[in-house]
Amino acid sequence: KDRGELRVHENLDELSTDLVDYIAELSEVSVKDRGIFAIALSGGSLISLMRKLCEAPYNKTVDWAKWYIFWADERVVAKSHADSNYKLAKDHILLKVPIVPSHVHSINDSLSAEEAADEYEFVIRQLVRTRVVGVSEISDCPKFDLILLGMGPDGHVASLFPNHPVLDEKDEWVTFITDSPKPPPERITFTLPVINSASNVIVVATGSSKAEAVHLAVDDVGPDSPLLPARMVQPAKGKLVWFFDKLAASKLEGS
Ligand code: 6PG
Repeated sequence: KDRGELRVHENLDELSTDLVDYIAELSEVSVKDRGIFAIALSGGSLISLMRKLCEAPYNKTVDWAKWYIFWADERVVAKSHADSNYKLAKDHILLKVPIVPSHVHSINDSLSAEEAADEYEFVIRQLVRTRVVGVSEISDCPKFDLILLGMGPDGHVASLFPNHPVLDEKDEWVTFITDSPKPPPERITFTLPVINSASNVIVVATGSSKAEAVHLAVDDVGPDSPLLPARMVQPAKGKLVWFFDKLAASKLEGS
């Protein structure tokens, strides 16, 4: 089975340069194609690896006015809380480039996890209707131009954790959990059908704590190995690219 393109880098600096270069290229293609770049972010170390987007040449060459920003997952905390994925992206990136504020679609932090998930899905439905977000040819799912994911040492992506029932969700686009093994416990998350309908998906994993999960997510491990959420990232039509440093890639077959 095609597990996508693997990009293994010597160190975090090289990874980060290649990552932002690729994001800038996807933005350019998407803006040329449909005048918009609808991008979904995650939390974690990924965001600091994207910080070069705020520097030359990207701060000037990227068509920031065409970006529409979403979150593939969010912790259900106040937007000003240190745990907020919105705050993380805002402080590190969004405040430093000329994004249009009304294009930033963060979750409503005054609601319960369940209500916030429902409302976020509703917002995305409106934006699919007006084609700010594309639509999949094979389902009615949103087709984000890019979904960016980090991966935990347990192989979770977004807030889709191993063996969790939300991995089976087929109908909802955005769902919630109240039992995240990684704190904080309450989160909302894109479901697998949405992730797998994107035009492009990037998964970033760095450091030796991720090496076993990288192996299980990417290599031909056979049906007796645990099925990690990261392995279930299989865009039907879209392109999947993995960015690893050499520590995360150290247990890959043939490495
Ligand atoms: C979150 C994230 C989560 C993250 C991974 C990897 O809200 O916690 O969206 O999915 O991307 O846990 O995080 P690190 O790269 O920091 O290990």
